[in-house]
This record gives sequence, structure tokens and C-alpha cells, in this order.
Amino acid sequence: MSENTLFNRLGGNLLIASIADTFLVSLRNDASLSRFFAGYDQRRLRKVKQALASFLIEITDGPQKYRGPGLKATLERIGVTSADWRKAFGYLAAALDTVAAPNSEKTELLQRIYDRQPDLPEEEAVYNQAAN
Ligand code: HEM
Repeated sequence: MSENTLFNRLGGNLLIASIADTFLVSLRNDASLSRFFAGYDQRRLRKVKQALASFLIEITDGPQKYRGPGLKATLERIGVTSADWRKAFGYLAAALDTVAAPNSEKTELLQRIYDRQPDLPEEEAVYNQAAN
């Protein structure tokens, strides 16, 4: 029953919001990833956080549908490489530790995201490198 969803076992909206928060802070604090957020004001960051939270709510079978372009379209558009993705995946795991998600729920969430891992390029597109 709905009682037993991963969303509820994780601790619901509050915990999901903390995961999204912690994860985004880590990405923005990483010197090799922060450029992806260059020029984002507070309003834009809030929108990203909300999109991320609703994505997490949906994949944990919580009470909200994610409506958006999706992981692959978004990450391809902004030029995320598979190496960036792996780094981010580590930050997501760390975020789950930070919010003290129980171990089996942590594993389950990471597995669900891993299963949706988009096929990203190894190398960043040249025009993105030039922008640095
Ligand atoms: C575990 C890996 C990742 C997950 C699960 C994830 C998840 C998401 C989701 C769900 C969105 C919202 C898409 C939407 O607009 O509906 C998003 C947006 C975004 N992500 Fe990630 N992401 C990951 C890795 C990364 C990496 C490596 C970067 C680069 C630092 C990144 C930077 C961004 C940015 C800048 C946006 C906002 C794009 C925009 O403003 O439209 N993400 N991400």
C-alpha cells in the first residue's frame, strides 16, 4: 500500500527537499561543476531545486508527478559528461548520508536513479569547453 512507498520510508517531502538542497549545494560547491550554474539567480536555483525534488518524489512513488524535460534532455542540453554524472552520483549518495536516510532506502533510491542513468558523452562538447 501507499504507506510503504520508498517516499514514505525515506521520510516524505521534508527529507526529499533536504536531499535536493544538499545535492545542489554540493554540485555548486564543486569547482569542476559550479560553472553549470553560472548566472543562475536565486529564483532559477529555486526552480531547479523544485524540479529536482518533484523528480525525486516521482521516482520514489510519492504523491507528485515530475513534469519536465527529463534527465537525458536536460543534462545533454547543458553539456554534462559521464564523468560529471559519476561525480554527481557520489554527491547524491553523500546527500542521502547527510540527511541520515536509512541504508536500505538509500540503496534503493540510488538504484532507481542508476537505472535511469542517461547515456551521456565521455567528452564535453567543444563549444562548452571554449566557454570556460
Ligand atoms: C545524479 C546525477 C543527477 C541527477 C539525478 C540530476 C537531476 C536533475 C533534475 C531532475 C533536473 C531538473 C530537470 C528539469 O528542469 O525538469 C536537473 C537540472 C539541472 N541539473 Fe542535474 N542531475 C544530475 C547531475 C547533474 C550534474 C553533473 C550537473 C552539472 C553540474 C547538473 C546540473 C543541473 C543543472 C544546471 C540543472 C538545471 C537546468 C536548467 O536550468 O534548466 N546535474 N538535474
